[in-house]
Amino acid sequence: MQRTLGTCYYPEHWPPEVWTEDARRMVEAGLTWVRIGEFAWSRIEPSAGNLNWQWLDQAIKVLGQAGLKVVLGTPTATPPKWVLDKHPDMLAVDEQGRPRKFGSRRHYCFSHAGYLEECRRIVGLMVERYGQNPHVAAWQTDNEYGCHDTTISYSDAARLGFRKWLRDQFSTSGQNDGVEALNQAWGNVFWSMEYGSFDDIDLPNLTVTEPNPSHVLAFRRFTSDQVVAFNLAQVEIIRAHSEAPITHNYMGRITDFDHFKVGADLDIASWDSYPLGFLEDRVGASTENQRRYAHQGDPDFQAFHHDLYRAVGRGRWWVMEQQPGPVNWAPYNPSPLPGMVRLWTWEAFAHGAEAVCYFRWRQAPFAQEQMHSGLLRPDGVDAPAIVEARQVAEEMKLAPQVQPARAQVALIFDYEADWAWAVQPQGTGLSYFGLIFDHYRALRRAGLSVDILPADAIDFSGYALVLAPGLMYMPNGLKQAFADSSAQVLVGPRSAARDTNMAIPVPLPPNFPGLDVTVARVETLRPDMPVPLKEGGAVTGYLEKLEGAAAIVMQTTMGAPVAMQAGNVTYMGGWGDDRALDILIGDLCAQAGVATLSLPEGVRIRDTACERFWFNYNGEAVATEAGNLPPAGVLRVDIA
Ligand code: GAL
Repeated sequence: MQRTLGTCYYPEHWPPEVWTEDARRMVEAGLTWVRIGEFAWSRIEPSAGNLNWQWLDQAIKVLGQAGLKVVLGTPTATPPKWVLDKHPDMLAVDEQGRPRKFGSRRHYCFSHAGYLEECRRIVGLMVERYGQNPHVAAWQTDNEYGCHDTTISYSDAARLGFRKWLRDQFSTSGQNDGVEALNQAWGNVFWSMEYGSFDDIDLPNLTVTEPNPSHVLAFRRFTSDQVVAFNLAQVEIIRAHSEAPITHNYMGRITDFDHFKVGADLDIASWDSYPLGFLEDRVGASTENQRRYAHQGDPDFQAFHHDLYRAVGRGRWWVMEQQPGPVNWAPYNPSPLPGMVRLWTWEAFAHGAEAVCYFRWRQAPFAQEQMHSGLLRPDGVDAPAIVEARQVAEEMKLAPQVQPARAQVALIFDYEADWAWAVQPQGTGLSYFGLIFDHYRALRRAGLSVDILPADAIDFSGYALVLAPGLMYMPNGLKQAFADSSAQVLVGPRSAARDTNMAIPVPLPPNFPGLDVTVARVETLRPDMPVPLKEGGAVTGYLEKLEGAAAIVMQTTMGAPVAMQAGNVTYMGGWGDDRALDILIGDLCAQAGVATLSLPEGVRIRDTACERFWFNYNGEAVATEAGNLPPAGVLRVDIA
């Protein structure tokens, strides 16, 4: 597989006179790709039906003739004002029932049929015009589904859609015959919440106290399906006129829709990586780490998403937007340490990215992102990132093409489990994403390369260790596949804790074949009340009382079982802190025959089929067994 670089460009922001020179400089910097168009609807169609393609024809021609490949974005994240005037009820509505307003972007509700038609129309016109254009080498649908909290909408359109969706799920005749089944599955006898018809069912906002968790989980599934359908509508139109691959640019720690389902309809997954922007809010780094990594980003957060989106893209994925310098939207917006833009780029390639594109080409001196850096300054002078991009482009010439390799360790990530935890966290700050990321970090501290798998994967051949913590609903087929596999398997806490409608199953969880463990009770604890373990480390936040005859492999200092094992399956009945997870994963790796390392803080590795990459996220040099790693340093070592 070839590695390539690119950038995000907005020809509509600059006079046509500079396009040629911009294109020449992009090629000179070693870039292959240029993504354009995704916010340009008001220039393509300034008023209803009044189409102006000439400028875009010209921009594509200039970029293409310079030798660049164009990724053309559909402009549906930014409907112009006239679209809203035509469909005044197309806005997403927040949980308080307030419509979002015009004046930024993503001001639409995924459920609005009229807006969907507008999207079909503009995408159709675009792909009819450019579907066979030799310079258009890939498509991007919309821009960042879920950005700015825009997935979940409590609009009238969503209410209608939700009722239909429920009917489809529960009714056999398409009428009200399934409503009893719904009442039963959700337990609506509780508090007299029973419905007589699907048309009685409202959206789960503005209730007096918490709504039924089954109701909320169903609404979250419906919401996700609306994103899938919205995306598929565009994909079908593009495919009818173009053979170029289609992608969407996902985000960091956005879990409001099932990316695996959206990804199943696309050719390539891509994501937008802003390591410094993410550090505080998305990573939830400690104050100490926010200082320590302020100029580098979290050492595991990018890697996690690289691995996640490799799975979402079924092996094919890109970084569509790579932070090049300070951004404008985080609580604080520091500069990257010299070398970090290069490090982030190589890290993406080490995880299998086909392309890394920098956002954006030239900093815009106007509007919302005027403080967001680019590869060029607003005056067109080189900004520091372009120097590092050029360096990577040079280095790529010497690096062999990358052959991805299957990791020895797999970690299951499931969007529905994230919704289930969000619907019922049972304690402040407890999230599925947080639990999964803690496990991922522990694996990386042990020097392991990780594959992320969706929850419907049932073929674990080739893996020595598979982890599925927190996977609240586990179909019997998955439990059996775990029991049958030759891998060591780690599940819990909260794995298999609910049925598919969010009720506690009886027999009580986890109810695994061959594993005599029962979760008899659950408690959650303040973060400053860790429960120390005899083996070292502690359980924090979430603790289960385990009963049964399976072997105890971890226990509290008071002797209560915390992790239990039978055969190849280990159940962990608590949220281990870093030390506890290091011990548990170390033991399981030893049992699975997986070699581990003890990496210095801030140093991480990633293996491809024939290379081992070493990355130093520290601001100081670090000595490693592979040699001295300078600050923000990268080492690429050939392996047999
Ligand atoms: C992304 C978005 C871009 C731009 C960028 C700024 O989330 O896709 O359009 O806003 O952030 O960092």
